[in-house]
Amino acid sequence: MGMNNLGNPDPTRKALFVEPEATLVTPVQTIPTQFDSQAARRPDESCVFVIFGASGDLTSRKLVPALYNLECQGLLPAGVAVLGFAITPMDDESFRDSMHKAVQSSAEVACYNETTWASFVSRLHYVTAAFDDPTAFATLHDTLDQLDRAHGCGGNTLYYLATSPAFYGQVVDQLGAHNLTEPRRPGAWTRIIVEKPFGRDVTSAAKLNDQIHRSFHEAQVYRIDHYLGKETVRNILAFRFANSILEPLWNREHIDHVQITAAETLGVEHRGKYYDGAGALRDMFQNHLFQLMALVAMEPPVKYNGDLVRDRKADVLRSIVPITRERLAIEAVRGQYGAGHIGSSAVAAYATEPDVNPKSRTETFAALKLRIDNWRWADVPFYIRSGKRLATKFTEIAITFKRVPKQFFNLGPHEVIDANVLTLRIQPDEGIALTFGVKSPGTDMVIRQMKMDFSYQSDFGESRATAYETLLLDAMEGDSTLFNRYDSVELSWQILQPVLDAWASDGAAWPLGIYPSGSWGPVASDVLLARDGRGWRNGG
Ligand code: BG6
Repeated sequence: MGMNNLGNPDPTRKALFVEPEATLVTPVQTIPTQFDSQAARRPDESCVFVIFGASGDLTSRKLVPALYNLECQGLLPAGVAVLGFAITPMDDESFRDSMHKAVQSSAEVACYNETTWASFVSRLHYVTAAFDDPTAFATLHDTLDQLDRAHGCGGNTLYYLATSPAFYGQVVDQLGAHNLTEPRRPGAWTRIIVEKPFGRDVTSAAKLNDQIHRSFHEAQVYRIDHYLGKETVRNILAFRFANSILEPLWNREHIDHVQITAAETLGVEHRGKYYDGAGALRDMFQNHLFQLMALVAMEPPVKYNGDLVRDRKADVLRSIVPITRERLAIEAVRGQYGAGHIGSSAVAAYATEPDVNPKSRTETFAALKLRIDNWRWADVPFYIRSGKRLATKFTEIAITFKRVPKQFFNLGPHEVIDANVLTLRIQPDEGIALTFGVKSPGTDMVIRQMKMDFSYQSDFGESRATAYETLLLDAMEGDSTLFNRYDSVELSWQILQPVLDAWASDGAAWPLGIYPSGSWGPVASDVLLARDGRGWRNGG
């Protein structure tokens, strides 16, 4: 099929790094980066933003609040119109009312005011339609043209698949069949954002990729992962490659191991139906945690540009040593939360949560030991874990360096000098810390670990942009750097597939450790590291 103008972005536009000439004349503290010059990021082009599944949770909790926040900050191009498309019967007025309530009550909307709402609301439109109704797609052409004329959208279209994943294939087929993937006028673009989950295993992900590619060119496809829109996740690349002191140390010669943790105190809440068929590996590892690992481990790209960055991330995933059945017992751990306490509140066991099978074997906690078999990382284990109902909420990457080769300070026989640990805190207390040994004041030679700590909040104040704001702007600008490419998605599933298969096939062989809510997961998770003479850092 004919492909449209993909609106190639100017690769230098979003460069993370300042041009060398600028650094010569700009004081260090005020070097402008994309992080503090958001006003400059208003996209030049408008579009019709079509949300399939607009009556669902994602639209009211994330998408419309994000668009409204962009309006508040003056970052939403004047001609952007939003078209909700879903089976729930609504008209423009009732859709607007429902979005009004959503925006007013959203914790993510920092600046609600009636004036901004009044200018924002006129952008919102709605059509009631089923995803398998060809007439609805045939008439979508006219609706898009009308919105174009009314708002000045430039003929550009940005689709968002916010439906249940069961409808993804149907919607892209309909768009393809009705030529809705073509540019609506010369020079215009059409793109599609696809929400997670992207498949539930290697086969379904590949099938979905094929299905999407029958209607869209890969360069039109933006597979979203909200972790990649987090300020601190984007900072991983800036921190690694804007500091020359790090790169010489960032390898197997100096690093002992890496830990990546995403710990949540929340349970499954109202998402039992989805989660019970997914579990922690599908929900957190395949996407968010593997993306964090890829950013930490990747080689420097030639340029900060969609495909070049994504090539290097894919290399990392390609280098992972498969977790074979023989190694599964020592490289993978699963658990499920039982009843317990989060703070002082008693909370129920997973198996008693709404919409969860009381006999469920779904993991709400998983830990993996991964080995990246390449020149930089051979023999450096990456321990990755995530769980619900753990003791505290935090997401961090901790890089533990090798210990000093010899200590000669006449310390006690059992005293060792701790290794330096560099921690990249993703949330909630965003920042970067480095521990190092110092002599404790006094006559004795006592080495203590101290911390150099950078905090986003103290140095930059509250971060304004939520992940969805950043990523929606990127998609409007045609910058795919922070979206997942088809190959990375399939590679991530390939890493998990042996574990998923084994856990699904033979429950007894791979125990599901029931851990008390409010703990750090099943005992086997500690054993996973203890076997290597290491221990998890529980937010320390
Ligand atoms: C989502 C998962 O993708 O990420 C949820 O489906 C999880 O289960 C959430 O709670 C975690 O995101 P964050 O931004 O709160 O770390």
